[in-house]
Amino acid sequence: MFGVLLLLLLFPLLLYIAAPQIRKMLTSGMCTSTVQLPGKVAVVTGANTGIGKETAKDLAQRGARVYIACRDVQKGELVAREIQNMTGNEQVLVRKLDLADTKSIRAFAEGFLAEEKHLHLLINNAGVMMCPYSKTADGFEMQMGVNHLGHFLLTHLLLEKLKESAPSRIVNVSSFAHHLGRINFHNLQGERFYNAGLAYCHSKLANILFTQELARRLKGTGVTTYSLHPGTVKSELVRHSSLMKCMWWLFSYFLKTPEQGAQTSLYCALTEGLETLSGNHFSDCHVAWVSAKGRNETVARRLWDVSCDLLGIPVD
Ligand SMILES: NC(=O)c1ccc[n+]([C@@H]2O[C@H](COP(=O)([O-])OP(=O)(O)OC[C@H]3O[C@@H](n4cnc5c(N)ncnc54)[C@H](OP(=O)(O)O)[C@@H]3O)[C@@H](O)[C@H]2O)c1
Repeated sequence: MFGVLLLLLLFPLLLYIAAPQIRKMLTSGMCTSTVQLPGKVAVVTGANTGIGKETAKDLAQRGARVYIACRDVQKGELVAREIQNMTGNEQVLVRKLDLADTKSIRAFAEGFLAEEKHLHLLINNAGVMMCPYSKTADGFEMQMGVNHLGHFLLTHLLLEKLKESAPSRIVNVSSFAHHLGRINFHNLQGERFYNAGLAYCHSKLANILFTQELARRLKGTGVTTYSLHPGTVKSELVRHSSLMKCMWWLFSYFLKTPEQGAQTSLYCALTEGLETLSGNHFSDCHVAWVSAKGRNETVARRLWDVSCDLLGIPVD
């Protein structure tokens, strides 16, 4: 009894002493690349806030022409101006992209291909988490629709440009949450059963499987691709869940800032010699462990075919 009481009294003290170390561990991983990007072109989806904004800022700082691809152009323009002022790089452009609408994705790609000769970096960053059940304009479950299918179509439409611009890279922002994900082909749109948290995990697993299959298909083209977990980051991602908002607030001391959260995306986009690791998953600027479900080639191939089918892309 006395021992338990002592432990209960000591626990807050131990936590207080250990907190800075725990925080250091959870916020580690810096992209140390000194690569400069004059003449390079980058597209960052969902770059009007959070991790995407910090990724775009860093790429602009290095001299790239950066496209902020976002659904709210007004928000995007404010951010573009902020990045221009901070970096002195005028080449920060905003284009409308709503990943919940394939018409918008096609219009974005069409506009981009008409105005740009090259694309060196595609950062598939935008994401939605734990939203109530809803559907995209094309009838896909929102999280699978935006996080996976939207980026799948966007990548497909920009792939030739990426190949022509090689060496080039595609970076897919996934999550540690993929560990809880499953690809339920019989319920991909969550119509039989829907849980907002699990649906996020499924879509993030899809990001990883997409990256692996894409890497296999891109062998020898000079285009490489990576998936990553950015860490647990203080951002607007939790907007749909009061519980997650509370958790984020409670543990905010241990969360990464969006700038820290952007480091692994930047690492994957910029680190020299990473080409041999195409298809791998990263976290804290290191190769990271992927669940067995995330390494299943058969599921990856089937997901590819099903995604093509849903999006009206000819299966090859
Ligand atoms: N924060 C974390 O702890 C964490 C952990 C693991 C993985 N991630 C991943 O990191 C990525 C960035 O998230 P974040 O933390 O920076 O979250 P965030 O601050 O909420 O940013 C998400 C971005 O995605 C955009 N977006 C959402 N739906 C869209 C749509 N239909 N079309 C176009 N853009 C859309 C948002 O635009 P609006 O502003 O217009 O809504 C916003 O720009 C996401 O893929 C997320 O899954 C984050």
